[in-house]
Amino acid sequence: MANLDKYLTIEDLMKAARRRVPKMFFDYADSGAYTESTYRENTTDFEKIKLRQRVAVNLENRNLATTMMGQPVSMPVAIAPVGSTGMQSANGEIKAARAAEAFGIPFTLSTMSICSIEQVAEGTTQPFWFQLYVMRDRAFIERLIDRAKAAKCSVLVLTMDLQILGQRHKDIRNGLKAPPPITPKFLLELATKPAWAFGMLQSKSYTFGNIAGHVSEAVDLSSLSKWTATQFDLTLNWKDIAWIKKRFGGPVVVKGILDPEDARLAVEHGADGIIVSNHGGRQLDGAPSSIRVLPEIVDAVGDKTEVLMDSGIRSGQDVLKALALGAKGTFVGRAMNYGLGAGGEAGVTRALQIINKEMDTTMALMGERDIHHIGPHNIYSNELLKRQGY
Ligand code: GLV
Repeated sequence: MANLDKYLTIEDLMKAARRRVPKMFFDYADSGAYTESTYRENTTDFEKIKLRQRVAVNLENRNLATTMMGQPVSMPVAIAPVGSTGMQSANGEIKAARAAEAFGIPFTLSTMSICSIEQVAEGTTQPFWFQLYVMRDRAFIERLIDRAKAAKCSVLVLTMDLQILGQRHKDIRNGLKAPPPITPKFLLELATKPAWAFGMLQSKSYTFGNIAGHVSEAVDLSSLSKWTATQFDLTLNWKDIAWIKKRFGGPVVVKGILDPEDARLAVEHGADGIIVSNHGGRQLDGAPSSIRVLPEIVDAVGDKTEVLMDSGIRSGQDVLKALALGAKGTFVGRAMNYGLGAGGEAGVTRALQIINKEMDTTMALMGERDIHHIGPHNIYSNELLKRQGY
């Protein structure tokens, strides 16, 4: 494996991933819905937030370790569920889960993963988190929850913002389909991505591992694709949290909350935690960034539930900004994917190292020693600048 120390930022890993991963799969993970305005604002809104510098503080014995959903973590950063992670690098879900495990942070497996729950459980030693999409075939969903339980998944992340799929133009233009269409253009591109292609020969799965072989209507790749396209449940509602929670028997975190009223409803209906998220800008284009709505959601439910957030985290500074505005922890999806595309398991480790080091240095320069002490007092705010539009 090439020396990954040369990658200093998540953007460096992104550029390397773009060179190594077929365009169709790189674009799938990297795109946002429609005009991509929400996707862009997820990162540009972080840039607008300024950190307060304090000096002459004793900076010995700094601590980034805390908990997320009661689980000890070496830093408040978990790996977000990302569909088709196994297409960025062969067995990508197992590689990312192993990197997370070694780093002491949670890995969340997507329902739409390439490696199955069982394959990830076999490739790891610690419990991971499982993300659930509720589908119309409730018998399948019940079995899926049971499989997550049997694999000892410790937290269920219930995604509620994808009853209908946001349109991502790049996927349509690239002809992305599940399963991937093997066209002459695609095969030609493979000649320029040999490491990816050779790696893929070792893949444990080439399609949605949690679904294939587990539903009778989806027997081959084409029927699997049709089944998946029609299965997202348009009737999903708050009352569904109760039976999902009962069936799983462990903590359920509701993902996709972007409004204080929805945050209150999620808590009223039994959510053990919420993830403030606009799905990385992949669903409602025109929605505000997650970091922008975070403070009002923390105001609404922060004393009743654990508020986590994702969408736009690309650095340790971003994590600290989210914490300062009230999040208990954060998730990285694209940062993990870039690492995976750039260098497999070691690339994910590198992405986590970059974020960890940025957090430690930035926290120190803010005059803080303990992650538990980060709060609104760490945000620089100047009324004069605000009136001038900064
Ligand atoms: C699925 O979660 C997607 O955003 O494509």
